[in-house]
Amino acid sequence: MMNINFKNVFGIPLIIFIVSWLLFLTWSCQNNQKLRILTRNTSNTQSIFKTGPGIHSSWLRQIHQHEQKIYSQNGEDGILLWIFANIGTVNYPPRFVEFGTENGDECNTRFLREQLGWQGLMMDGNYEIPGINLYKENVTSKNINELLAKYQTPSLLDLLSIDLDFDDYFVWKSILQANRFHARVVIIEYNYAIPPNENRVVDPNQDSRRWTGTMHFGAGILAMAALGRAYNYTLIYADKMGVNLFFIQTSILIDQNILHKVRSVEQIHVPKPIVYWNHPQERDETRRWIWNDTVWK
Ligand SMILES: *[C@@H]1O[C@H](CO)[C@@H](O)[C@H](O)[C@H]1NC(C)=O
Ligand SMILES: *[C@@H]1O[C@H](CO)[C@@H](O)[C@H](O)[C@H]1NC(C)=O
Ligand SMILES: *[C@@H]1O[C@H](CO)[C@@H](O)[C@H](O)[C@H]1NC(C)=O
Ligand SMILES: *[C@@H]1O[C@H](CO)[C@@H](O)[C@H](O)[C@H]1NC(C)=O
Repeated sequence: MMNINFKNVFGIPLIIFIVSWLLFLTWSCQNNQKLRILTRNTSNTQSIFKTGPGIHSSWLRQIHQHEQKIYSQNGEDGILLWIFANIGTVNYPPRFVEFGTENGDECNTRFLREQLGWQGLMMDGNYEIPGINLYKENVTSKNINELLAKYQTPSLLDLLSIDLDFDDYFVWKSILQANRFHARVVIIEYNYAIPPNENRVVDPNQDSRRWTGTMHFGAGILAMAALGRAYNYTLIYADKMGVNLFFIQTSILIDQNILHKVRSVEQIHVPKPIVYWNHPQERDETRRWIWNDTVWK
């Protein structure tokens, strides 16, 4: 009698409980492995992810909650940490290239480098500090691939950060076309003032002038998104200051089965940056834009 009672009352629920508990353990272990950021300083990695490790299936949707400034100009530090918390890294230690860093005090990779053991190359037109791998180079669309080779860049980086204030689009395009160096995540400056339905970018070959403080610089969000898309990168975010765009390799989104969660270019576009930039209109009407350089397909 006792036996039968026990079986009915506890037996089946107990088995269900144990099985689901084992399933849960397996699931959380897998997630932990995927999530783990490879770093020399694991004590730090833990403290960054306050919620504890685990891929957040809605991480793309939550990305806007993660802007946080540590050493970056604005909230880029927090966004990059959030992205890598959810897609991991492939190099050990993780590798980056960033150009347009000035002296490296305020840039997108300083936190990763100093606190998380990432390694990489920085380049800037005015600064050289070999101790932190920062080299004085004038990066152009013509020399960028040679420069990457010169500093022994691996063929697949975790992060590429581009901030040249003018021809960023063409330098990225040159890297993409050469097909020698790839990055899983790309952060690149754009021109917030160009409406998201206008596919245009500055003509960098018109003369030697670069950014003169006016609206005449960079590329619009649609031009950047179209360029990325042509090379299998997906635009996932634009920061609230209207300064940077974040791209990741489309294959990563497909692997995570979240490509359908990416918002449209129109939705990602920031119509009113939280800072009023007040860049004056370009008075020189001969300064040209190039339209539809990469057609959105
Ligand atoms: C690792 O991180 C801890 C906590 O921030 C820090 O105290 C320590 O100096 C770091 N170690 C290295 C090797 O960077
Ligand atoms: C970069 O360009 C400037 C201006 O053209 C030049 O004066 C400087 O020497 C160049 N620097 C390097 C490292 O090539
Ligand atoms: C983009 O991905 C597609 C599908 O995997 C592939 O056929 C195509 O060659 C890729 N394009 C580039 C430029 O890598
Ligand atoms: C750019 O392409 C769009 C869409 O195909 C088209 O409507 C527009 O006229 C083109 N602009 C120029 C200046 O060619």
